[in-house]
Amino acid sequence: MPQAVHLIQLAGSDQSFPCADNDTLLRAALRHGIAFPYECNVGSCGNCKFELLEGVMSFCWPEAPGLSDKDRAKNRGLGCQSKPSGPLQIKLRTSEKYAPQHRPVRTTATFVSKHAITHDLSEFKFETTTPVAFLSGQYALVQMPGIAGPRAYSMSNVGLINGHPQASQVMEFQVRRVPGGHGSAHLFDQLAPGAQVEIDGPYGMAYLREDVERDILCVAGGSGLAPMVSIARGTFNSPKMQSRKLHFYYGARSLQDVCGLDMLQALSDWDARGHYQAIISGEPDTANLTNPYLRGFAHDAVAQSFGERLQQMEIYFAGPALMGQSLLKTLIDLKVPMDQVHFDQFY
Ligand SMILES: Cc1cc2nc3c(=O)[nH]c(=O)nc-3n(C[C@H](O)[C@H](O)[C@H](O)COP(=O)(O)OP(=O)(O)OC[C@H]3O[C@@H](n4cnc5c(N)ncnc54)[C@H](O)[C@@H]3O)c2cc1C
Ligand code: FES
Repeated sequence: MPQAVHLIQLAGSDQSFPCADNDTLLRAALRHGIAFPYECNVGSCGNCKFELLEGVMSFCWPEAPGLSDKDRAKNRGLGCQSKPSGPLQIKLRTSEKYAPQHRPVRTTATFVSKHAITHDLSEFKFETTTPVAFLSGQYALVQMPGIAGPRAYSMSNVGLINGHPQASQVMEFQVRRVPGGHGSAHLFDQLAPGAQVEIDGPYGMAYLREDVERDILCVAGGSGLAPMVSIARGTFNSPKMQSRKLHFYYGARSLQDVCGLDMLQALSDWDARGHYQAIISGEPDTANLTNPYLRGFAHDAVAQSFGERLQQMEIYFAGPALMGQSLLKTLIDLKVPMDQVHFDQFY
């Protein structure tokens, strides 16, 4: 059945965009180049709030944690969880930094294969029906059959490289099995080669800046491995970045969680320009952790290794929100300019 399409008007501006009734306001806006602020895209962070002035809408996930009861009472909604039931007028402050570099598209994708990275982290390969133009470090939404709401997963394969504008039909995700998690259980236990999912992307602002002439620090925690591996792959593949050094810090809970080095060592020139450091937070003091491991947390290790030299680096990080907040505080304390810092927190 064809979808009804409604016009969404931004109050106080001449901007408007069409939104199908099976799309969300945030994603439809980005598909039309409107710089709608957001971060997680899955109802958790609250960065996509807007106020409904006129019209009727429905909510994909009415209990989404990104919206408080106070917000609901004030007629606010989450762009990533709101669908129009007719034309709407909304109040929203757009911000140019959210204007998409490549507009998100919806496509079906076929599951091809998976391989284990650690005891609970695996890489899943999909082939999309429509090519998707994404940048290294971005993520996509994966809608699995029978699972309420899409899940955000970052691509681990290399994105578009300047001068090679070839959209990809391959998307690889590195997913951690979350105890009790519905989406990860589906991927690990039910997906057979040939199975179809829906993919919507790309999203996210933590993409590789090829034109910046600074050495790079990537910090990954847990399943934050994927976008940082993609950033590293992009850096080593970009003709513009051949003189750039890349430091890769991986925060793991225990020895069995440490990963990523083999993927980086496969990059040509890694030995000359790359540096990998694993940091382990949860092993007992009796564990014999010596070089090449550090004990502790990623944000402390980064501060001890680089100190104020971080001010001269382009910094990317991804992983659990707790790690992200600690690292962000460290970078602010060390007076790192925030326009050199790009991150996704995994809610
Ligand atoms: C930007 C971003 C990138 C991410 N990248 C990765 C990655 O590369 N690898 C990785 O392993 N994980 C990644 N995550 C985390 C991932 O999206 C999942 O949150 C995590 O895998 C747990 O999902 P689950 O289905 O197993 O757990 P569940 O507990 O079943 O689901 C948790 C997630 O589903 C959403 N959700 C729950 N119920 C509903 C509902 N009724 N309707 C709509 N949404 C609902 C929540 O917002 C939450 O994101 C990323 C998250 C974000 C925000
Ligand atoms: S982007 Fe909508 S709640 Fe995070």
